[in-house]
Amino acid sequence: MRTALVAGNWKMNGSTDVVNELMDGLIAGLNSSGGVEVLVCPPSVYLSQVEVAAKNSLISVGAQNVSENGDGAFTGEISLTMLNDLKCEYVILGHSERRSLYAESDSVVAKKFIATVAAGIKPILCVGETLEEREQGKTLAVVERQLKAVIDAAGIENFSTAVIAYEPVWAIGTGKTATPAQAQDVHAAIRNMIAEYDANTASAMRILYGGSVNAANAAELFANEDVDGGLVGGASLKANDFIAICHAAGA
Ligand code: 13P
Repeated sequence: MRTALVAGNWKMNGSTDVVNELMDGLIAGLNSSGGVEVLVCPPSVYLSQVEVAAKNSLISVGAQNVSENGDGAFTGEISLTMLNDLKCEYVILGHSERRSLYAESDSVVAKKFIATVAAGIKPILCVGETLEEREQGKTLAVVERQLKAVIDAAGIENFSTAVIAYEPVWAIGTGKTATPAQAQDVHAAIRNMIAEYDANTASAMRILYGGSVNAANAAELFANEDVDGGLVGGASLKANDFIAICHAAGA
């Protein structure tokens, strides 16, 4: 039995005031989360503030990215030691915006994954195809390449705490959500890819859907057998919408 996870990826949004207001709203609305694990991933400069606000609540805190390197001369980067210092439980890795805008390759994502697991933090590994790749029938090949690059480097034994997020690039921030059937097809394929390495890991793995999830479409997406929650961008910035999405996952 997999516990659903709904993770809010705030991306590069927020301010001290906005973070306070959003956290107040989430904590008030999520006093009984009922069968769903709730996570927020603020910009790293607000991690401390969110940690303080989330203390004694049902909300876990994660980061949006991390360096694969240990502490040292890496200007502008954030280390796993720092995330552990702030009691971050999760980190998003290989988000399509990191891959496309910051040239993160499969092998860099794999290095980050290995370092994250070694540091005792849970990775949320993002995979997903572009519109062009989908139209060319390459969806599963792309997802398999992204996934295998990490499994082959890290070893399937390092996936016991990991979460996979399937985020079709064409659905991110576009309002074009994958249909429940499209999501289920890819999620089932991902679970099968993992099962080729280890059946138990595959059946326990939470596979989240991301890409224009909102309060209106969450329930039908999460009703699919292999959709174990969501990675939510825009709608995670509105407390009421995010709470509704969390409740849809717990239902
Ligand atoms: P949107 O929900 O804004 O489409 O973003 C999805 C996403 O990229 C979450 O990581």
